[in-house]
Amino acid sequence: MEYLTFALAKGRLAEKSMEILEKIGITCEEMKEDSRKLIFINEKLGYKFFLAKASDVPTYVENGSADIGIVGKDTLLEEGRNLYEVLDLKMGKCKFAVAGYKEIKEKLDSSMDLVVATKYPNVAKEYFYTKKKQTIEIIKLNGSVELAPIVNLSDVIVDIVETGSTLKANGLEVLADICPVSARVVVNRVSMKLEYERISKIIKGLKELVVD
Ligand code: PRP
Repeated sequence: MEYLTFALAKGRLAEKSMEILEKIGITCEEMKEDSRKLIFINEKLGYKFFLAKASDVPTYVENGSADIGIVGKDTLLEEGRNLYEVLDLKMGKCKFAVAGYKEIKEKLDSSMDLVVATKYPNVAKEYFYTKKKQTIEIIKLNGSVELAPIVNLSDVIVDIVETGSTLKANGLEVLADICPVSARVVVNRVSMKLEYERISKIIKGLKELVVD
C-alpha cells in the first residue's frame, strides 16, 4: 500500500489537526514526542505526515509531495494554488481585516495614495484593487505588522485578527472586515483521483466531526 501523505502547518494548527485526525483513527504516536523531526510515518496504517511552514503547505499539496493538507484559509487565499479545497474544519477561526489608528478611517475610504503594510500582499490587492477599486501602495512585511502604522511606515495594515488583543495592546483597531478565516482540508488534484476511496473516507469522517 502506498503511503497517504499529510502536510500539516507546523505549530498549533498541526496539533489541532492531529487531534481531529486521531478521532477518525489516523494516528501517529511518534509525532507526540518532542523532537526536531519533520517527517513521521505510521507504517501500520500507511500514513506519512510532515510538518511544513504554513505558507508552504499549499505548495507541497499542489505538487503532489503531499496528498492532503490542513492549512488556514488565510494561506490558501494568499498562495492561490491549484488544489481542491474540500472541507472547512471550522477551527482556528479568525478574520482578515484592515486595521490602523481610528483617525485614519476617513483616509481609508477616500484616499488614492493609501499605504498598506501586510504579510498578505495578494489578499490586500484583491480587497483594495478588485473589491474596492482603490489604488494603494503595498509594503510587504514578514511579521509583527502592527508596528507599521505606529512607526509611520504605513497608513494601515491588512492582517489576521483573532482575539484582537495585539491590535488593542498597540492602540490600533479594526477599520474594516475583509473575510472570515478558518482551517481547511485541501487535496492534490491527482491524488483525489488515484486515492479516491481512501481520501473520500477521510473527508467524510472529518465532516462528521465539524462543529460550528
Ligand atoms: C498573528 C497576526 C496578529 C496576531 C493576531 O500574528 O499577524 O499579529 O496574530 O492575533 P490576536 O488578534 O489574537 O492578537 P502571529 O502571532 O502569527 O505572528 P506575526 O506577527 O509574526 O505574524
